[in-house]
Amino acid sequence: MSNASSNKFYLTTPIYYVNARPHIGHAYTTIVADVLARRHRLAGDETFFLTGTDEHGQKIERSAAAAGVPPQQFTDQVSAQFRTLWERMGLTYDRYIRTTDEDHKRGVQKLFTTLYERGQIYLSTYTGAYCVSDEAFVDLPVGTPCPDCGRALEQVTEENFFFKLSAYEARLIDAIERNELLIEPSTARNEVLSFLRGGLKDLSISRSSFTWGIPVPDAVQQHAQATQKHVVYVWLDALTNYMTAVGYGSEDPAEQAKFERLWPADLHLVGKEITRFHCVYWPAFLMAAGLPLPRRISANGWLLFDNAKMSKSRGNVVRSETILNAFGNEVWARQYPEASAAERDLFGADVLRYYLLREIPFGQDGSFTFDALVTRYNADLANGYGNLVSRTLSMIEKFFDGVVPTPVYEETAESTVTPDGFDAGLLGRASTGMTSSLSALNETDFATQLAEIAAFITVTDGFLTANAPWKLAKDPEKRGRLATVLYVAAEAVRWTTAALYTVCPFVTDRVWQQLGLGSIEDSRRNGELANMHWAGLEPGTKLGALSPLFPRAEKTLADSMVDMENEKNTPELTPASVAPESANTTPVAVDAPAAEPASPAPDAAPAGPADSSPEITIDDFVKVELRIAQVLVAERIPKADKLLRLEVDLGFEKRQILSGIAEWYTPEELIGRRILVITNLAPRKMRGLESHGMLLAASEEGGKPFLATVPEGVPVGTRLK
Ligand code: MSP
Repeated sequence: MSNASSNKFYLTTPIYYVNARPHIGHAYTTIVADVLARRHRLAGDETFFLTGTDEHGQKIERSAAAAGVPPQQFTDQVSAQFRTLWERMGLTYDRYIRTTDEDHKRGVQKLFTTLYERGQIYLSTYTGAYCVSDEAFVDLPVGTPCPDCGRALEQVTEENFFFKLSAYEARLIDAIERNELLIEPSTARNEVLSFLRGGLKDLSISRSSFTWGIPVPDAVQQHAQATQKHVVYVWLDALTNYMTAVGYGSEDPAEQAKFERLWPADLHLVGKEITRFHCVYWPAFLMAAGLPLPRRISANGWLLFDNAKMSKSRGNVVRSETILNAFGNEVWARQYPEASAAERDLFGADVLRYYLLREIPFGQDGSFTFDALVTRYNADLANGYGNLVSRTLSMIEKFFDGVVPTPVYEETAESTVTPDGFDAGLLGRASTGMTSSLSALNETDFATQLAEIAAFITVTDGFLTANAPWKLAKDPEKRGRLATVLYVAAEAVRWTTAALYTVCPFVTDRVWQQLGLGSIEDSRRNGELANMHWAGLEPGTKLGALSPLFPRAEKTLADSMVDMENEKNTPELTPASVAPESANTTPVAVDAPAAEPASPAPDAAPAGPADSSPEITIDDFVKVELRIAQVLVAERIPKADKLLRLEVDLGFEKRQILSGIAEWYTPEELIGRRILVITNLAPRKMRGLESHGMLLAASEEGGKPFLATVPEGVPVGTRLK
């Protein structure tokens, strides 16, 4: 294993949009970053791990409006949800940046001014299409679907500041080809190169039609004689977080020194859909400002659920909280009912971390299923690692009073244990597979590394079975052999544990304590973990108290996680300070299976008519968001006799809704009409088209639906409560 080095290592995750609560897609990138940060700390690097939230722009402004709260309050709430979750999961970031932080705003203004002063920015007018969801200018006709996310492109005509992106084509290609800017995997690198070879247009880097953003500095606006007030384009704002988080733009000398020391970033981890922003725009801004480029950009694939990218707009997300709660409460706390909430969470987090890294080849897309999560946990952690730890340590407890025995070498030619002490197979694997897992700092092939560890566990298990210490223990003559076998097994447990530490920091700490080695964090800090050598376990070490570490998970756990997801409202997610969720945080799936209705109190009023729906509380009702909308477009859908495709205006946004009213209403009689819409239904796909909302109508079974009438004079977008 490599010895401690003393490099600096600065790594980042994307900063997450606060228009939706976190799901395991966000957790995935953040977990990968955490594992890498722990590895670098283990190697002795000065490590800085950054994550945070992206809080400006039109999308967030609209989401806040839809929730009926001022944008700052809205972003405070959602950003806190991300942060609380990351803390529950024990993620070891060094800074949690918010783009609404004052130091960030100053830094963005400084970069904007620098670019302007260096002649890289000019004022002009943009007329064209914009995708609000991706916050991206798109070179396609208005109204066509966005090539990235499929939502309709909107018309924008605005005075904008433009960045001379077109001047950077050749320089960017050169930087990438010379690996000055490393992009991985190669598929992402090739995509970026072909995008660049297709030619670059100048990029609009300000917006003047809304206000939720960092203002373009007054001096720049005046000098350029802008006629509108401008805010910085959200991607320029967001990307700059990687520098402002470590001191860029600060007047404080200590912060400036920090920036000098840490910049450029060594690694930006990003999801593959945002490589263009990171590999084209970002390095171009930096080149134009005369600043060094990040060293490496690594794109992860997508977590898929039901074969589609997990995302809020598709409504197919899985919450990390579900996994923390299920494994924390139903597995760990079943064994340890007294366990604190923090311990339960950390156990659940270890399981999620292990599963995501083991199951998904880094860089590729991977499907998430609850069944696979439970199966993987039982196979690798409960039966594999957990079983090895417990059988090895309990035999040491039983046969050697809980003290690591001194190995005695034997001369028997046929024995698995060689004359010079240890099993050659084990040693060989330990020094190759395990070493590579522990020291490959730039390696992101987690799935292979974890497979190597799993294979090592299998070999060690085989070694125990072949040597049958429980039989050796019956023969006093074989005491030396018994000591040797159990020593080798304990050493294998120590190596496995060290190798798993960055992926499962909570449970490996428990094992470390059981091995009598104290806190694994201390061993990491004092360099012990980075300087492992075989036979480093001291004979005579007194084991800690033994107890099971991986209680088996019942198969039914997968079903209970599905139920928890359907309820969609894990209590921990909705701290009292957070307003009830609205359409733009998480759609309430009113068409999903309903949660068990609370049983009526014994003295409750008699039940209503037999066919009435179960009683709901006012809290249930306020979850449903009803708003006044106006139909802008109505058209028939080819080969779907019953369906109409509507585009409706909700005041703060336009939506596509499919409705089964084509037999009763013609498109013409609907256009311009004001209707009532349930706006926070999870979007659904029908005939390949997304429907995001539902019209309100009165209808008898099978009869004509009568669209609900709307009060006169009330503006479009108004909510009914
Ligand atoms: N705010 C921008 C990023 C700005 S960085 C300067 C953004 N935010 S986001 O909330 O949409 O988060 C995107 C990132 O979350 C992805 O790039 C990826 O890292 C992670 N993921 C979100 N959904 C994911 C999956 N379904 N699967 C894997 N990662 C996913 O884009």
